[in-house]
Amino acid sequence: MLFLKKITLTHFKNYDIKQFDFDKKVVGICGLNGKGKTNLLDAIYYCCFTKSYFSSSDAFNTQFNKEGFRLEAAFENIAAKQHVICIHRNGLKKEFYLNDVMYDKLSEHIGLLPTVIIAPDDIEIITGSSEERRKYLDATICQLDSEYLLNLIKYNKILQHRNSHLKQEAAQGKINESLLEILDQQLVEPANFIYNKRIDFTKKLLPLIDHFYKQIASSNEFIQVSFDSKLNNGKLDTLLIENRQKDRALQRTSCGIHKDDLILQLNNQPFKSIASQGQRKSLLFALKLAEYELIKEGKGFSPLLLLDDVFEKLDDIRMKNLLDWVCNNNDGQVFITDTHKDRLINEFDKLGINGQIIEL
Ligand SMILES: Nc1ncnc2c1ncn2[C@@H]1O[C@H](COP(=O)(O)OP(=O)(O)O)[C@@H](O)[C@H]1O
Ligand SMILES: [Mg+2]
Repeated sequence: MLFLKKITLTHFKNYDIKQFDFDKKVVGICGLNGKGKTNLLDAIYYCCFTKSYFSSSDAFNTQFNKEGFRLEAAFENIAAKQHVICIHRNGLKKEFYLNDVMYDKLSEHIGLLPTVIIAPDDIEIITGSSEERRKYLDATICQLDSEYLLNLIKYNKILQHRNSHLKQEAAQGKINESLLEILDQQLVEPANFIYNKRIDFTKKLLPLIDHFYKQIASSNEFIQVSFDSKLNNGKLDTLLIENRQKDRALQRTSCGIHKDDLILQLNNQPFKSIASQGQRKSLLFALKLAEYELIKEGKGFSPLLLLDDVFEKLDDIRMKNLLDWVCNNNDGQVFITDTHKDRLINEFDKLGINGQIIEL
C-alpha cells in the first residue's frame, strides 16, 4: 500500500507553514468551516498529481500576498520511500522533485503515487455535462497507463489546431482541403489509442460500479452504466470525412473521442432526472470506489483515498456501509474530513476503527 507519513505546507492557500505527521491507516481531519480541511486534502492531491484538484491556477493556490508556495511530502510504498517537493514561485515554471531529482516533464509523475479523491462537487460527474465523466475516466486511466496521458495531450492539441483551422477557413472564406486531411490523419492515431483504452477499461469498470452501488445503497435497484462513443459506430477517419460539411458549418469538430460519455440510467431512465440525492451520492461513491479497485488491481497496491465531507447529506445506513468498506474492508490509507469531530470519533468507535484524529 501507499502510505503518506508527513506533509509540510508553506504558503499554500490558508496555510502559513504547517507540518502534519500521519501514523495511522485512517486519518480523520476535523475543524469548522474554513479551517483548511479541504486545502490539506488538496495539498496531498497536489503532491500526487502535480496540480490542485480544485483550481487550475497556481496563483490561487498561493497564500494571498505571498511570492509562491512549497509542498513537501514523505510517502512510503511497498518497496521504496518517495520524497516529493514542489516549489512554485509566482510567474516561474514550477519545480517538482522526486527523491531530489527534478522532473523534466510533470506527466512522468502521474501514476507513481496513485490517489482517488471524492469531494462534494464531484456530484457533477453524475449531474453535469459529459466533460465531467470524461475527466473521471481520464483521471483513472492516466494513473494506470502513462501512454494514455501522452496520447490525450497529443489528441487535444491536434483537435484545437483542427478547430482553429475550421474557424480560420470560415473567416477567410476559402477552404484548405489538404491541410484538413493532414489534421484528420494526425487525429486518428491518438484517438484510436484512447478509444481502445477506454473500451478495455470500462469493460472492467462497469460491473464494479454495479457491485458497489448495491453495496452502498443496500438495494437492488436496476442501475445501468454504459460507455458511449461515436467510434462505436464507425472508424474515425470515415466519420471525419462524413462530417466534414457539418464541421465546416459548425466551425468545430463534431466527431471524436472528445464526445465520449458514460450513460447513467436508473430503471431505464436517465439517472439524473429521476434519482434522489441519496441515490446520486451512492452512484458517485460507486464510481469512485470502482476506480479505486481498478487502480489497486493495476498497481498491485492500494492507492490513497481522500474523502472530503462525504458524510454530509448521507443517511446513517449509507454512511455506515461506506465507512465500513473504506476503513475495514480495504487496506489502503484513508483521509476523511468532517466538521463534526464527535460524529467522526463516534463512527470510528462503532466500527472499531483505530484512527488518528487531527483537529485544525
Ligand atoms: N490563496 C489563499 N490564500 C489564503 N487563504 C486562502 C487561499 N485560498 C483559500 N483560502 C482560505 O482557505 C479557507 C478555506 O479552506 P478550506 O480548506 O476550504 O476549509 P474547510 O474545508 O475546512 O471548510 C478559506 O477561509 C479561504 O479564504
Ligand atoms: Mg471543505
